[in-house]
Amino acid sequence: MKEILTNNRDETQKFAVRVANFAKPGLVITLNGDLGAGKTTFTQGFARALGVTSRVKSPTFNIMNMYTARCFPIYHFDAYRLEESGAQDQGFEDYVGTDGVTLIEWPQYMKDLLPNNRLDITFIRGEEDNNRKIKIKGIGDLKDLEAQI
Ligand SMILES: Nc1ncnc2c1ncn2[C@@H]1O[C@H](COP(=O)(O)OP(=O)(O)O)[C@@H](O)[C@H]1O
Ligand SMILES: [Mg+2]
Repeated sequence: MKEILTNNRDETQKFAVRVANFAKPGLVITLNGDLGAGKTTFTQGFARALGVTSRVKSPTFNIMNMYTARCFPIYHFDAYRLEESGAQDQGFEDYVGTDGVTLIEWPQYMKDLLPNNRLDITFIRGEEDNNRKIKIKGIGDLKDLEAQI
């Protein structure tokens, strides 16, 4: 587990650029944290670093948005709305961990679809309004990744 602190949204997006350096098809990043913690802000910085020019926003109502990046697609999930219904039978497995990079907000609601190898990031509000503690954990084969970021 690695931990960093950011003092504003720009710093969180700069951190996302660093993570984007390790992006490759099949990478899955789970983004944990309360509403407003910074999950979508991170995804915006991440997607921009990979050449996405359209506006990235939380796909709360359609669960997934797909973006065209330079080298591979980006699948951006927000599973919040799946809380009750669950993630079964919706075809999400056609995307998660396949030919693109997958980022998942509220991954606890898509537990069955999460691969064993993934980068798990948790955003926690700090004492000041714009402070965020960010915990980075490489799981499975990605255990060494956290040290490199
Ligand atoms: N250090 C920070 N990192 C990320 N976002 C921050 C930070 N400080 C303030 N913010 C603000 O917090 C909000 C985070 O919202 P968002 O990324 O949509 O959260 P989530 O997707 O986790 O619900 C944004 O309005 C952003 O400007
Ligand atoms: Mg969000």
